[in-house]
Amino acid sequence: MSDLQDLSFDDFDEWRRPPPAVTDFDQVLATAMSRRGLLRAGLGAGVTALALSGSAMVPLAAMASSRFAFEAVRVNTLDTVTVPNGYQWGVLIRWGDPLWSDGAAFDQQSRGTAESQRRAVGDNNDGMGIFSKDGRHVLAVNNEYVNRDILHGNRDDNKPVNADDVAKSKAAHGVSIMEIVPDGDGWAVQVDSDLNRRITADTLMQLTGPAAAHDLLKTAADPSGTRVLGTFNNCGYGQTPWGTYLTCEENFNGYFSGSDDLFDVPDAFKRYGIGLKDRGYAWATADDRFDITKHRNEPNRFGYVVEIDPLNPTSTPKKRTALGRFKHENAALVIAESGHVVVYLGDDERGEFLYKFVSRDRYQAGGDSTELLSDGALYVAKFNDDMTGRWIALTPETTGMASKAEICVHTRQAASAVGATTMDRPEWVAAHPMRTEAYVALTNNKNRGKKPNRGGDATPVGGPNPRAENNYGQIVRWQPLDGDHTNTAFTWDIFVLAGNPTVHDDVYGGSKNINPDNMFNSPDGLAFDSLGNLWIQTDGKYSNTGDFAGQGNNQMLQADPNTGEIRRFMVGPKECEITGLCWAPDKRTMFVGIQHPGEKGGSHFPDGDSTVPRSCIVQIRRDDGKLIG
Ligand code: FEO
Ligand code: CA
Ligand code: CA
Repeated sequence: MSDLQDLSFDDFDEWRRPPPAVTDFDQVLATAMSRRGLLRAGLGAGVTALALSGSAMVPLAAMASSRFAFEAVRVNTLDTVTVPNGYQWGVLIRWGDPLWSDGAAFDQQSRGTAESQRRAVGDNNDGMGIFSKDGRHVLAVNNEYVNRDILHGNRDDNKPVNADDVAKSKAAHGVSIMEIVPDGDGWAVQVDSDLNRRITADTLMQLTGPAAAHDLLKTAADPSGTRVLGTFNNCGYGQTPWGTYLTCEENFNGYFSGSDDLFDVPDAFKRYGIGLKDRGYAWATADDRFDITKHRNEPNRFGYVVEIDPLNPTSTPKKRTALGRFKHENAALVIAESGHVVVYLGDDERGEFLYKFVSRDRYQAGGDSTELLSDGALYVAKFNDDMTGRWIALTPETTGMASKAEICVHTRQAASAVGATTMDRPEWVAAHPMRTEAYVALTNNKNRGKKPNRGGDATPVGGPNPRAENNYGQIVRWQPLDGDHTNTAFTWDIFVLAGNPTVHDDVYGGSKNINPDNMFNSPDGLAFDSLGNLWIQTDGKYSNTGDFAGQGNNQMLQADPNTGEIRRFMVGPKECEITGLCWAPDKRTMFVGIQHPGEKGGSHFPDGDSTVPRSCIVQIRRDDGKLIG
């Protein structure tokens, strides 16, 4: 069987709603708990037999002979960045730093205006990548969202009070593109570079692919359904071998609201969490395209992957509807041996799905790649408890939906229709650079085993989501059959179950590669370096108490995909998440994102004293200037 359309209707129904499978839950957990190189004999059947013992607690000294080039950093709750001995860090650029000399310096009291923000780096930096041409380098970074208490902290109730406040908020979103140049031991942003660019919630973009020009995308302002203003809630990223940047629209629903209380919110909106109340951004108060009761189709024009040419500041960004519409986390792109472009995509919401796009056309180095992402097949993952899985094509035949265009707009509904596996919030996917293998961070899911997803799909405990009320998260990986990323069959296993072995002696203590010295919760950002090391960034609970006692601030760790060994490399400042990771062209500097330090008012990072906490990009180097990945 290569695809679902090969099945009869009866067989399709049987496949869609199979009788309860025999759940080999023990096998799933045992595999996770006995990661290669950390195998402990005597694993019995049953969850209780998998409890971690003291032997799982590997002291730091015992890890000295590993492949890691650094000593583990200990957990802390300091309001600074902590890196290993022999490494140094500094700030590259902060939210509000101007990219042009005609922009105003960041104002601590007002936190900027719409005008200053349009000329400055956006807020809450997330995914980022570096692009090079003719010896010049630009860094493109997402500016995911804003923290109302910080951005509007100059207002009495920390809320936007006028149109300029809303415009400032919109300008703090999107993407910041800046040239970087060598500077002493590290790098600096080149103010006034002709490559610098801000893309915001008001930048003109083109809608491409199957849904472009469909009725669902037409509005009064754009009767063609092909032109849209802006991108926002840009979370993770992707990078193509033809030199473009992919920015991923995640929680776009939170920006829409409705002024007519009698408006009957359609189910298609409810599935995406779109309703009459926004998340406090108040954009509709100054721009009524964010009022769903006035502009029904505007929300259908967000929730996509957007392709940007970061080296051409006058290029028009293109929304790629072929990659589906959902809360896109990132876009992990690989070129299959056949030349097809394969993009792995997570939908970050409790109980939502993991997707794969395979381009219709093939990539050829030096060829015309401009529309490779505008047409292809979209798949969703179905994991089986026997450690196999299958990518199910989302087509009118498999989903019962009217057209490919509709599938590309109502992608969640399409995935529900084929019975895809509900996941524990898929965050970043990273593809191994040397093996045909990909990893996804499933950050956490308190509803696992308790509540269905927003579409009513059950979230049973098992498979890649093996723990009920999962507050710690896990990283799952898969290997496509025959080493071919276009193959619809794969095998999978759990790379790590995060947990707290100092609090729990059951599965909530984590897998065997978790110990009191490397524990963490809520894996989110994932990236491989050129040496094949997996870097893990966390966006978790930083209370440092209860279930999270001893886990400190959010952090970044390095993992060895061969042995499963994990070591903490960095700890961030208070109340931040660590997100965004890339390397300078010479691999001697690593850029790491610090997002929303002080989101609850408890940080003054990075400038200390009584300054406003500011999201920023830090650069990390070895003291001896050697390679860092
Ligand atoms: Fe923007 Fe799912 O993180
Ligand atoms: Ca994330
Ligand atoms: Ca997260």
